[in-house]
Amino acid sequence: MTRNTLPPWQALEAHAAQLASRHLRDLFAADGAGRFDAMSVQALDLLYDYSRQRVTRETLGLLQSLAQACELPARIAALFAGDAVNNTEGRAAMHMALRNRSDRPMQAGGQDVMPEVRAQLAKMREFVTGVHQGRILGYTGARFTDVVNIGIGGSDLGIVMATEALARFRNKGIRLHCVSNVDGVELADALEKINPATTLFVICSKTFTTQETLANANAAREWLLGELGEKAIGHHFVAVSTNHQALDAFGIAPESRFTMWDWVGGRYSLWSTVGLSIALSLGMDPFELVLAGGHEMDEHFRTAPLERNLPVLMGLLGVWNIDFLGLDSLAVLPYDRRLHRFPAYLQQLEMESNGKSVTRDGTPVGYKTGNVVWGEPGNNAQHSFFQLLHQGTARVALDFIAPVNGSSRFLAHQDLALANCFAQSEAFAFGQTAEQVRNDLQAKGAPVAEIERLVPHKVHAGDRPSSLILVPRLGPRAVGKLIAWYEHKVFVQSVIWDVNPFDQWGVELGKKLATSMTEPVRTGLAPDGPAHLQKLLAQVQRWRGD
Ligand code: F6P
Repeated sequence: MTRNTLPPWQALEAHAAQLASRHLRDLFAADGAGRFDAMSVQALDLLYDYSRQRVTRETLGLLQSLAQACELPARIAALFAGDAVNNTEGRAAMHMALRNRSDRPMQAGGQDVMPEVRAQLAKMREFVTGVHQGRILGYTGARFTDVVNIGIGGSDLGIVMATEALARFRNKGIRLHCVSNVDGVELADALEKINPATTLFVICSKTFTTQETLANANAAREWLLGELGEKAIGHHFVAVSTNHQALDAFGIAPESRFTMWDWVGGRYSLWSTVGLSIALSLGMDPFELVLAGGHEMDEHFRTAPLERNLPVLMGLLGVWNIDFLGLDSLAVLPYDRRLHRFPAYLQQLEMESNGKSVTRDGTPVGYKTGNVVWGEPGNNAQHSFFQLLHQGTARVALDFIAPVNGSSRFLAHQDLALANCFAQSEAFAFGQTAEQVRNDLQAKGAPVAEIERLVPHKVHAGDRPSSLILVPRLGPRAVGKLIAWYEHKVFVQSVIWDVNPFDQWGVELGKKLATSMTEPVRTGLAPDGPAHLQKLLAQVQRWRGD
């Protein structure tokens, strides 16, 4: 049965229509002081305040009924049981095993994967501590001072995000450079800053077939070869991949290989050996604390009742905003600069996972699925795009994220950050009425005509829904919890929409075309290509000739 024919879905549609005329001000007035308690959850040292969402208790009840009608509890159980939830590729999605801190076995493909997971973690620890303690050295006998991670998408974004978020834990002796883009800019910039004798390259690619990564890895290999000679390669390159044949071809020795598995999706892989560069940058202990935070969230997701379950609530509220209130964009606004790459990380997580328009059995969905995710550190965003969010015609759902204690040594600055965060969420919810604008201007002694001229410009309609995530401090555990929270939120939404969040066929066509386009771009020749392409290629040739 398609989701929008389920009785709770239809009840939610009717309910949304009834609620349309009620402003968030009315909802707060109706609920009084009890609204915050009814619409916030504190768990795992996280506070989730969703009282500023455009919901009533009835909305929440109906969303819970929808979750039950979509058999969410059974689907969560299937995820954790290692069933082939990635049905188009016939695989489990068992990233939770990577951060399993308990003694419980975890199955994927009918097999307990924990022994392999633990073995790779032990290998990572051995390697990372070896590098940090100067036991593992470069070809010339020098200590490593720089690590260059070469990877893209899930083999880059989590590494950048987590090492930025946890910058205060960085090992002072190691500088991390991340090279992802195929245009060569990041690689060239990194090579300018590093000394070949003290640089370790980590080639990170689940498939080891990704064009961007291979182009950058080959160029880095050539560079090192030119600087230190062939024999140095084995000392300066390690790799993370499932593709051992390709690693043979690249010349990565078995002891320099870190394995991952096909039951780990790229965008869910920072917990795996993909986290090697995170551990090289921060140390193995902080990395394992990130895993511990992720595991805490897994346990919460698996066991907490749906009404108090953080990922379930966040997922359902997202569905409400997207499918029933028509908000198909989510801005993620951290009030800590250290989280500045978190929105980019979530873009891949959410948009690659739930950017689907057919159900798991291939039927067109007939309702909206994944939304556009974007964002910037909130305080900077206030001075750029918040105008549109406050008074523009586009409607956007907002997630504010704020640590109570800041990440810098200027502790008092976090009071300002929090004040801004709270002030903005109030302004988005309650706005500013014409009457308030008038009173304000009158108090300042403005003439009546001037007041009336300005009122329409100064009114803030409010009624913009937002959630607030408050954490005590941005430590490794908190970062792990946050990431796993959003991961499971994505899963919850995929269950409601009945889509497979673990495949990404949509990126394949572009990749295939890029491969066939490489030679025409180089030569300017595509004899069988369409006229518009011939013209583009000719223009490239003309400007290349200049
Ligand atoms: O282009 C999409 C994608 O397939 C992502 O899903 C993945 O994270 C990224 O490419 C990189 O893939 P790999 O780790 O295999 O190089």
